[in-house]
Amino acid sequence: MSRGLKTILRAEGRRCLIETVARGLAGRLRRLTRGRRGLLLLDRAFRAETEDWRDALPGFSLAFTARRGEAAKNWGEARRLLTRMAEAGLARDDWLVVRGGGSLSDLGAFCAGLYRRGLRLILVTTTLLGAVDAAVGGKTALNFGGAKNQVGHFYLPERVLVDLAAFRSLPRARLAEGLAEAYKTGLLFDRNLADLVDRRSAELLAGDQDLLAETARRSFQAKAALVARDFREEKGLREVLNLGHTYGHVAEAHAGLNHGRAVALGLSVAAELSRGRAGLPASEAARIQAVSGRLGGPWPPPVPEAAARRLLQADKKIRGGRLRFVALAEVERPVIMEVSADEILNAAAAALG
Ligand SMILES: NC(=O)c1ccc[n+]([C@@H]2O[C@H](COP(=O)([O-])OP(=O)(O)OC[C@H]3O[C@@H](n4cnc5c(N)ncnc54)[C@H](O)[C@@H]3O)[C@@H](O)[C@H]2O)c1
Ligand SMILES: [Zn+2]
Repeated sequence: MSRGLKTILRAEGRRCLIETVARGLAGRLRRLTRGRRGLLLLDRAFRAETEDWRDALPGFSLAFTARRGEAAKNWGEARRLLTRMAEAGLARDDWLVVRGGGSLSDLGAFCAGLYRRGLRLILVTTTLLGAVDAAVGGKTALNFGGAKNQVGHFYLPERVLVDLAAFRSLPRARLAEGLAEAYKTGLLFDRNLADLVDRRSAELLAGDQDLLAETARRSFQAKAALVARDFREEKGLREVLNLGHTYGHVAEAHAGLNHGRAVALGLSVAAELSRGRAGLPASEAARIQAVSGRLGGPWPPPVPEAAARRLLQADKKIRGGRLRFVALAEVERPVIMEVSADEILNAAAAALG
């Protein structure tokens, strides 16, 4: 296992160090921020720790969002946060430290990049999904006009610390969400990561800290390497990260599945289509479907045809009636294909029926 290794994400002349932290987080943050002032945005899950943080970071003021999770990604919260930064009189080389899940890091990074055109930023991620995906990549987001992630910009933090101790309070369903995205990352870029999620899924879902750390590290390494090559998504390289997301989004929108479960379901459908169209060996497709099922199953029935067609039409990757679909020719070999809605519906019927 790779222990204590830092991943460096370089983009646009900036550098972001990503690492797991098992203990001593407060001391770590104190050293990194070196007596400067700042704002600490804490997830409401950690409300009870307020006094500890006041002692640990005396130059910091503390902020919470009014609402938790996804509901915090809005203008009202952003405005409140920017107001707090201004009231604290923060200068450009002061800090915003965000400790929470992906929703909080999307909101916090959004504000950090705007305040005085860029406050120094550390993301402390307390969810596996944050470590695997949300905190790694420099994308910030608010929900707007009824649509998810409709407003945002790119802003790279200086550090991402993966707070392994915080993972202990994550419910199993949230671990499963992060594992579904980690498995996707493994299928795309790192066979050993896919094998780890496959062979050790029971221990991972039970919260085994060493295995979760290894999963997080392999995932952020792979994602960081891709993001560094296409930070602003101008070359289309990040498109492969949509593996499992085309039908996943359909199931998420129609059946209200949480995102991770929807991705696991979408991976099952993608495995089916990859077998038929991209030459993925049947044994590999079956294996992917078995692992996805352990992470997110049992599956609801396929989305009814009319609704599925409507939702696929709304997919932003549609071109001339055909959808751009990420498939696997084999593990670690993604291919982007144009497919019809019929092909996706048939694959869903076979994978989920
Ligand atoms: N910017 C990106 O590239 C990117 C990528 C993927 C996902 N995201 C975003 O990430 C968000 C989802 O993030 P998430 O899944 O990390 O969850 P989250 O931030 O939405 O938090 C979900 C819930 O878990 C609680 N929580 C957080 N950490 C906890 C812990 N350690 N123990 C117990 N409870 C805890 C929160 O208070 C909240 O109630 C979505 O808004 C999604 O759009 C962003
Ligand atoms: Zn996703």
